[in-house]
Amino acid sequence: MICRLLHFGPKWTESGKIAINFSILYGPSVFKLSLLWIFNSFDKDVHDSSYVEPPLLGLQNFQDGAYAEDLANFHERSHADDWFGTDIMDIRVGWTKNLCSSRDLPSCSVLDIGTGSGRLLQQLAKQGFSDLTGIDYSESAIELARSLAIGDGFEHINFLVDDVLESKLERRFELVMDEGTLDAIGLHPDGPVKRMMYWQSVDSLVSRGGILVITSCSRTKDELVQEVENFNQRKLGAVGSGSEGLPASEAAVFSYLDHVQSYPSVDSSCITTVALLHK
Ligand SMILES: C[S@@+](CC[C@H](N)C(=O)[O-])C[C@H]1O[C@@H](n2cnc3c(N)ncnc32)[C@H](O)[C@@H]1O
Repeated sequence: MICRLLHFGPKWTESGKIAINFSILYGPSVFKLSLLWIFNSFDKDVHDSSYVEPPLLGLQNFQDGAYAEDLANFHERSHADDWFGTDIMDIRVGWTKNLCSSRDLPSCSVLDIGTGSGRLLQQLAKQGFSDLTGIDYSESAIELARSLAIGDGFEHINFLVDDVLESKLERRFELVMDEGTLDAIGLHPDGPVKRMMYWQSVDSLVSRGGILVITSCSRTKDELVQEVENFNQRKLGAVGSGSEGLPASEAAVFSYLDHVQSYPSVDSSCITTVALLHK
């Protein structure tokens, strides 16, 4: 059984708090833990304009469970990180843009499933994508993503509260992105069943000829490809012995297209990004 610390990141917030984030890989699952510590500033006369107050001035209090849960649900944050870290997001965004261009989808419609802070969509907007939608079943996440997008001048990004497993979306997208959401879904007590539901849902969200890009830290590329192959078999088994004669949307299955070869940082060595073609 693999057990590994994927990420450890203390982070100072503007309100004088320190959040300590851990991501732990245990077998096929990833556990994320956020601890929020609150520190008080000393009253201090600042005599020198170059003086920078050290962040750790004295521990006053520690907020456990409930506040950590709020933090994980994006409350109380003046800004937000993405799950896999900002440093490697640029690699993924550039890689995704090249992939879309190579498939003749240079400025295609984009759906980000489990968008969290929505930062990925902002980065894609900077790369020229304009039809951008983010969904998350957390109202707080969507509230945060909207606020951040408006604050950063990306008012045109659509953010909707929506559970991907019971999506209310009535359209398909040429590019569907998932950064850690299938991982999160797999952590549910009914994870295996929900993962199967996930594939059914994304099947109805990705256009024919469109691309699904999944970034995971709980599955390897080969495991994801095998999982989607299992879905294909179930789907084709359910609709008949073959895809011949089926309506296009019914016949489409996912096939491996490409993957990010490696991420440079040591911490991200077990992160997988795989692109699947819906054809
Ligand atoms: C690991 S976080 C990743 C957030 C964001 N993609 C990022 O990279 O920072 C997983 C996200 O998926 C959302 N999520 C989990 N299950 C979901 C579901 N069934 N439908 C929609 N969103 C879901 C969570 O609320 C959370 O924001």
